[in-house]
Amino acid sequence: MDIWGKIFAAGYDRFLAPTEKAGLAGHRERLLVTATGRVLEIGGGTGANLPYYGDGVAELVIAEPAEAMARRLERKLPGYRIPTRILHARAEQLPLETGSFDCVVSTLVLCTVADPSEALAEVRRVLKSQGRLLFIEHVRSDDPKVAGWQDRLRRPWAWFGCGCQCNRRTAESIHVAGFSLAELRQDKLAKAPPLVRSLIVGAAARGG
Ligand SMILES: C[S@@+](CC[C@H](N)C(=O)[O-])C[C@H]1O[C@@H](n2cnc3c(N)ncnc32)[C@H](O)[C@@H]1O
Repeated sequence: MDIWGKIFAAGYDRFLAPTEKAGLAGHRERLLVTATGRVLEIGGGTGANLPYYGDGVAELVIAEPAEAMARRLERKLPGYRIPTRILHARAEQLPLETGSFDCVVSTLVLCTVADPSEALAEVRRVLKSQGRLLFIEHVRSDDPKVAGWQDRLRRPWAWFGCGCQCNRRTAESIHVAGFSLAELRQDKLAKAPPLVRSLIVGAAARGG
């Protein structure tokens, strides 16, 4: 594993703390309380979502490909109230049965996966037909000036953010992947750098 990946994982919770306090934690809480049944979280990172899952979750599988992140997540699991296992897997290739999850959760992950359309196809595959994708993602800004900077600074930001692409049109990708967007809220991630401030929060139905 690369050194920066280890440093990024070690500093992740502290780096995000002001943004969590300024609103991100509230988004997590309101969204994740609606997760029910068998839940898959992709790119679970250090486990920032763990405190917010409600009693309706019967089982949680967290896919996390980065070892340094997964190690931190693992430390938070002893005593956790929901039966949970970590899967060392990328969202683009999930070693999971088709149609086996009620809910998939993606928070700040579709910016980072190498191939969002492959990842979303896998998410659809593992969801039951009535299943839902719950998401919180930072996206391309509607402001052309900010979007221009997101395009110009995409590469250095991706280096800093371990692959994070700051200019993705993620709501469109979710729609193109065949989901129907049942809820879509837009917000700004307070205390986050302007490049990653535009946020979408919502739920998408797998459909047919
Ligand atoms: C910005 S962090 C978000 C962590 C956590 N979901 C959160 O809300 O704080 C992005 C996470 O996606 C993971 N990741 C990167 N590529 C991935 C992929 N192809 N499939 C799944 N997760 C991936 C990273 O290892 C990292 O843990």
